[in-house]
Order: sequence, then structure tokens, then C-alpha cells
Amino acid sequence: MPLVNTKKMFEMAYKNGYAVGAFNVNNMEITQGIIDAVAEEKAPLILQISRGARDYAKISYLKGIINVVVEENPDIPVSTHLDHGDTFETCKQFVDDGFTSVMIDASSRPFKENIEITKRVVEYAHPRDVCVEAELGQLGGIEEDVVGVDDVSKHIADPNQAVEFVEKSGCDSLAVACGTSHGAYKFKSEPKLAFDVIQGIGERLPGFPLVMHGSSSVLKEFVDLINKYGGKMPHAMGVPEESISKAAKMAICKVNIDTDLRLALTAKIRQVFAEKPSEFDPRKYLGPGREAIKEMVRHKLHVLGCAGKAGECL
Ligand code: G3H
Ligand code: 13P
Ligand code: ZN
Repeated sequence: MPLVNTKKMFEMAYKNGYAVGAFNVNNMEITQGIIDAVAEEKAPLILQISRGARDYAKISYLKGIINVVVEENPDIPVSTHLDHGDTFETCKQFVDDGFTSVMIDASSRPFKENIEITKRVVEYAHPRDVCVEAELGQLGGIEEDVVGVDDVSKHIADPNQAVEFVEKSGCDSLAVACGTSHGAYKFKSEPKLAFDVIQGIGERLPGFPLVMHGSSSVLKEFVDLINKYGGKMPHAMGVPEESISKAAKMAICKVNIDTDLRLALTAKIRQVFAEKPSEFDPRKYLGPGREAIKEMVRHKLHVLGCAGKAGECL
């Protein structure tokens, strides 16, 4: 079994008021940290790969690592997901490569075009038992390969459009822009999410799973450690964890987290370098980094409410 698509996971998450964590992977240590946490906490898991991750680590290496994760954890349902696929061709490639879920992010295109591209991906993915996530509205923030809008509040998803979008495109889940953004600098002042948008779409599309991107909380403890050990991340700010938990109890069934893993890894490596300046064995700093990722993910699984839910998603 347990390489699965996201259908059952989302069905259970929606019904039982939690969200499944979708964690970005870029190398072996990050993947191991995630799976160690999930195996201990018995949670369902979505491992996602961005185009940036693919270009960095090569898909064959990442697939090899993920295959081991799946083989060694028969009681954990794992879905492998393309994060922010930009074209039909990229999505097709990931479907052909055996991924169980793909995101087509045509959210920067006009509404009709977004529907058409998404529909084309759905028509290719569904006969192959692969789920499709689409996006409506636009997120802010700047990632390596994902450039968002500057003023997030102007690009919030429209609940009425969401209904038309889902009906016409046939997508399985929808990422909705609701005030979050990618990266470590999400808000300039008080963090605020558009819960009315989540609520509005939830009411219009009962039972339909929504996705929240840009969901890292940028925990102060980790930013402080980075700054203490020579980093420079002033004014970093994320989504408060209470807001994530609240959204997870609503129609949000998948929560994307990357930045918080990066912060945990970076903080730990900086600490080792600062405290042991003579250290040059990569295992001595990547090892503690991997442990920091594990603790971060364990914590997140409780924030999302999916700890202990692996069994019901199989
Ligand atoms: O959505 C963005 C993710 O954090 C992936 O970032 O494109 O730098 O790999 P990346
Ligand atoms: P963060 O940058 O908040 O971790 O968001 C990650 C994400 O949305 C990946 O698609
Ligand atoms: Zn994203």
C-alpha cells in the first residue's frame, strides 16, 4: 500500500476537522526528519517537491529517497505531490514519474485560462489515479521559483468564482489565497487571515477540500536563534499557529509548510557552527539539523490535528 493519492486523506480530514501537513523536501536529511516525526506521531503525510527542489536535487534522487520512506513505513499513508506546477507539461512529467498528486498553479493567468489549463491537467491525471490541486487568487511573498504579488489583500480568492472554477475544471482540491504568503516575511503589521473567504467557499462547496499555502508560523524562537548566531532576519513574521489550527478545523484539509523547516535547519546548523567553530564533519551539523526538523514537524502535526490519524487515512 501506502503510496496513496490524497482522496481518502482529505475525506477524513474534512470529516474529522483536521488538516494534513504537506512538507517540502529538498534533500535526504529534510525527508528523514519529516518521516521520523510522522512515524512517531502516526500521521498521514504529503511530501511535496517544488520545481526548485527538482532542479536542485534531481527528481531521480528525491524519488529514491521517497521510495525508501514508503517501503519502510507501511502503516503511514504517504502522498507524493508536485508543488506549484507551472505548465501542463510539468504536471504530466510528475504524473508519468509516479507522483500521486500534482498542483497546477495557473493562478496568475486570467480566470478562464486557469480553468482551461487545470481541466487539461485533470483530464490527464484522473485516469492515472492522480489528484489535482489548483489555485485561485494569488499569494504574496517571493520564493526561489514562486514569485507572488506584493499586496496580498488585493488578490484574495472570490468564493463565487471558486464554485464555478471547481465545477468547470474538475480539480480535486483548491488552494485559496486567504491572506497568507510564501517565505519568512508574511505580514508587515498584525497578521490577519480572511477566514470569511474560507467559510464562504466552505459553505458554497460543502465537503470540498481547500488548501492553505504559505502556512509557516515563523516561530520567534527560531528566528531569534538564527539572529543570535550570526544570521540577519529582522521583522520576520508568519501565520499565528492558532489561525492555522482554526483553518484546519474548517474546510482547509492540506496545509503547506516549508519555511518553518528551513528555519529549524538553519538555526540548528548556525548554532553548531557558532558553538563548535572547529567542526567540519557534515554529519555533526546535518544530524542535529535533521533532529530539529523532526521536532518542528512533530509540533506541527499537533497544530494541524493530524497526529494519530494515519490509520483512518489508509
Ligand atoms: O511554495 C514555495 C515553496 O516554499 C517552495 O520553495 O521554490 O524555493 O523550492 P522553492
Ligand atoms: P511557507 O513559505 O509559509 O512555508 O509556505 C510553503 C508553501 O506554501 C509551499 O507551497
Ligand atoms: Zn505554495
